[in-house]
Amino acid sequence: MTYQYILTQLSENILTITINRPDKLNALNRDLLQEIKDAVMNAQTNEEVAGIILTGSGQKAFAAGADIAEFSSYSVEEGTSLSGAGHLVMNEIENSTKPVVAAVNGFALGGGCELALACHIRMASTNAKFGQPEVKLGLIPGYGGTQRLTRCIGKAQALEFLLTADTIGAEKAKLLGLVNEVVAPEELLSHCKSLLDKVKTKSPLTIAQILKLSNNYYQGSGFEEEIKEFGNCFGTADFKEGTDAFFNKRVAIFTGK
Ligand code: COA
Repeated sequence: MTYQYILTQLSENILTITINRPDKLNALNRDLLQEIKDAVMNAQTNEEVAGIILTGSGQKAFAAGADIAEFSSYSVEEGTSLSGAGHLVMNEIENSTKPVVAAVNGFALGGGCELALACHIRMASTNAKFGQPEVKLGLIPGYGGTQRLTRCIGKAQALEFLLTADTIGAEKAKLLGLVNEVVAPEELLSHCKSLLDKVKTKSPLTIAQILKLSNNYYQGSGFEEEIKEFGNCFGTADFKEGTDAFFNKRVAIFTGK
């Protein structure tokens, strides 16, 4: 299958999905996210696939977030719909019956961090950087970040990220439990492959059961509420100010309106 924004390669029962928009730091537009969803969905019924690696092309980014240019003039309804569609993509990954490993090879910001969080396991290269900078845009995370980040690293650590928009490096991410291991950029993919090589010798049934049961740990209505509140941001002056500031490379001045 040929896609516009992602590359897929199946080798030795491991499907590698590479986000391929390096000139935009692999920013996640709607079509790109649908392509990831489609590739993960197809992998579910492909007996050749035992595991999936998700990574970004280029040296700089896993994904620098949702595509700000695409959504900067969205209405509340369009924002809500964007978030709802994004959640379905993240759920597809999280509910995959084949393990999905994020190979985070640079910026994983906003939607990029949320995409990594939806994966079952995260490995990082030494140049990886994580953050949820949405508040700088007068926005909140819209692809599950308020929920999955909190569940992954705990409420206080997650709130520090979510409220300040601070970015952290790979070593700090490992300390927080956001990533399992930090390896040199040139070893990242082979490291992820080694992990999946161990998994693929096991029964696909037991692997699928464990993945399903581990997701049962996470329940609650937070995801639905996040979609609603993300959409509401698009009706605010602060969102318009935040996105305008990003494009004009200036600091936003928020008024709470
Ligand atoms: N959406 C759309 N375009 C993006 C993007 C995003 N999230 N992140 C980066 N880009 C684009 C830039 O606009 C730029 O495009 P251009 O060359 O056509 O001007 C290109 O990718 C390179 O980015 P640039 O900002 O020039 O790189 P940098 O090394 O100076 O800075 C970042 C890197 C990641 C710090 C910066 O791009 C950034 O802050 N991105 C937005 C992060 C964000 O807020 N994500 C959450 C979105 S909800």
